[in-house]
Amino acid sequence: MPAFDAEQLRSDFPILTTEVAGKPLAYLDNGATSQKPKCVIDLIDRFYAEGNANIHRGVHFLSRTATEAYEEARRSIKASLNTPDSHELVFLRGATEGINLVTNGLEAQLQEGDEIVLTIMEHHANFVPWQVLAKRKGLKLHFVGIHDDGSLDLDAWKAAFNPRTRIAAFTHISNVLGTINPVTEMTAFAHEHGAQVLVDGAQALPHGPADLTAIGADFYVFSGHKVFAPDGIGVLVGSKEALNSFRPYQTGGDMIDRVSIDGTTFRDAPERFEAGTPNISGALGLAEAFRYLGEIDWSAAAKHEGHLADLATQELKALGNVRFFGTAENKTAIVSFLYDLAHPHDVATILDTEGVAVRDGHHCAQPLMDYLEVSATVRASFAFYNNEADVDAFMRGMHKAKRFFG
Ligand SMILES: Cc1ncc(COP(=O)(O)O)c(C=O)c1O
Repeated sequence: MPAFDAEQLRSDFPILTTEVAGKPLAYLDNGATSQKPKCVIDLIDRFYAEGNANIHRGVHFLSRTATEAYEEARRSIKASLNTPDSHELVFLRGATEGINLVTNGLEAQLQEGDEIVLTIMEHHANFVPWQVLAKRKGLKLHFVGIHDDGSLDLDAWKAAFNPRTRIAAFTHISNVLGTINPVTEMTAFAHEHGAQVLVDGAQALPHGPADLTAIGADFYVFSGHKVFAPDGIGVLVGSKEALNSFRPYQTGGDMIDRVSIDGTTFRDAPERFEAGTPNISGALGLAEAFRYLGEIDWSAAAKHEGHLADLATQELKALGNVRFFGTAENKTAIVSFLYDLAHPHDVATILDTEGVAVRDGHHCAQPLMDYLEVSATVRASFAFYNNEADVDAFMRGMHKAKRFFG
C-alpha cells in the first residue's frame, strides 16, 4: 500500500542533510536535476563492488547476471510506465538524445514543405533538433503560443494542423511555467490529423508516474537524472514500427545482426539504437529509482508539493514587487518569478548565501523568454522531499534580497 510521509522520504536522501554556507541545504532546483535516494546510490555501489561486467557478450557468470539485470531493468521500467506492447524502450543518455534520435530517424521520411507543430514553451532539447531538421529539409515549423496564465493556447494549437502536418512535439510539463499539458487529448487530436507525436516527459515523471498506454504517443522521452536516478541515462519509448523504420542513429558493436566486409545488417529496436557498451549501472539505478518511486502515494505527494509551491507563492506576493510566470490551474510545483528590484542572478546569489539552491536564467527556453519579453527568471522547483523549512529558508533569502536591493 503506497504511503506518503515527506519527512521519512526526505531522510532517504543523504545530500539533504548537508550544509551550504553554514546553513542547512534547501534544495529547490529539482527542475534542473533531482537528488538521489540512498537505495539508488547503494545499488550502483553494489554493482561495481560485486556485479560489474559487460553485457550481451560473455558466457561467464558476471556477464550473464549483469545482462539479466540490465534487461530486467528495461522490463521493470516498461511495466512501471504501462508501456503498450506495440512500443519498445531504448536506453539512451537522456531526453535530449531521445529527441535527437527521433529527429534523425524521421528525416528520411519527411519531404520539403511538410509541417511540424511545436509549442513556444519547449525546452531547447525539444526545439533545436526540430529547427535544425526543418532547416535541412525545408520543413515548416509552427510555434503555438500560451495564454497569460502560461497554459497552452489549445485552440491555436489545434488550428495549426493541416494536411501537411506530419509531427507534433510537445512537453508534458513546462520546465519554466510548470504547466501540465493535456497530452492525452493532444495526442489523440494529432493522430486524428495524421501526425506522429513526440511527448517530452522530462519534467513530468519527477511528479508522478506516466501511463504511456493511456497517453498513446508514438514517442515519449525522459532523463534519469530528473527522476531521482543517475545522470547519463535516459529513455526513449517508441513505437516498434516507427523505430524499426529508422536508420540506426549510431553504429558499432551490439546493435548488429551480421557484419561482413561486404555490409552489415542491423537488429531491431531496442538494440538497434544501443550501439556499444551502454550505461549499465545507470540503467540499473534508473530501475531502482522507479522501484522506489513506485512505493510513493503520488496523489498525496502532489498535494504536498502543491502546498509548498502555494506557500512560497503567497509569501512572495506578500513580499511585493514580484511577477509570476505560469499560474495555470493545472500546473506542477514550479514557481518562476521576477523580483522587480533585482536581477534574477543577484536574487539566486543571495539565496545561495542562505543555503537555498534555485535556478536563474533562461532555463534553456529562450524562445519562451522572448515570448514573455524577459531575459531570465528565478525558478524554485519543488520535489516530494522538500518541506516548509525549505520555503522558510527561501523566504529568508528573499527578505535578505529585499533589504539589499529594496
Ligand atoms: C522539459 C525538458 N525537456 C528536456 C530536457 C533535457 O533533459 P536532458 O538535459 O537531461 O537531456 C529538460 C532539462 O531540463 C527539460 O526540462
